[in-house]
Amino acid sequence: MQRRSEPLISEQAIQARILELAAEISRDYVNRELVLAVVLKGALMFAADLSRKLTVPTSIEFVRARSYQGTRSSRRVQVTVFPEENLAGKHVLIVEDILDTGYTTHFLLDRFRDAKPDSLELCTLLDKPARRNIPVAARYVGFTIDDQFVVGYGLDYEEKFRELPAVYVLDET
Ligand code: XMP
Ligand code: MG
Repeated sequence: MQRRSEPLISEQAIQARILELAAEISRDYVNRELVLAVVLKGALMFAADLSRKLTVPTSIEFVRARSYQGTRSSRRVQVTVFPEENLAGKHVLIVEDILDTGYTTHFLLDRFRDAKPDSLELCTLLDKPARRNIPVAARYVGFTIDDQFVVGYGLDYEEKFRELPAVYVLDET
């Protein structure tokens, strides 16, 4: 499987948008204890870049949910990594790579609610609203994209392409 040679979202566009998101998040979370809950593995690059542009003190936790095989979403979601820290009284911002059908995020939101944080919001680099099956909305969205499979900047096809600094459409032909 190949990627297109021209990026869908360039490195420059991603970094510029991250500056805007970081400014907005820093304003919203001033004087709050912010916990970034980074969804592995796809949100790794996004969270690393975003966190370094925030001006509020932040702690970083990781969460992992498995639901995806190849290019199709399945409804089975298993949380395999979850923060050991006590999240009660904290302000949790889940950092996702992409919001697609909504199943993964819906399930993650449920798990986090059980941990009784003071607030729970979602920040996603990409949003693919065309395929949403469960109504999930993100408070912070980097880019809204059409229904195409994308790779790069943390996003993979069978573990490939994560290291690319830009987002590319996968050629499924
Ligand atoms: P759902 O459908 O549960 O899926 O919202 C979210 C997860 O599915 C993966 N996903 C993608 N991964 N390119 C990818 O590399 C894509 O275009 C894509 N669409 C969905 C991803 O793991 C995400 O967290
Ligand atoms: Mg994947």
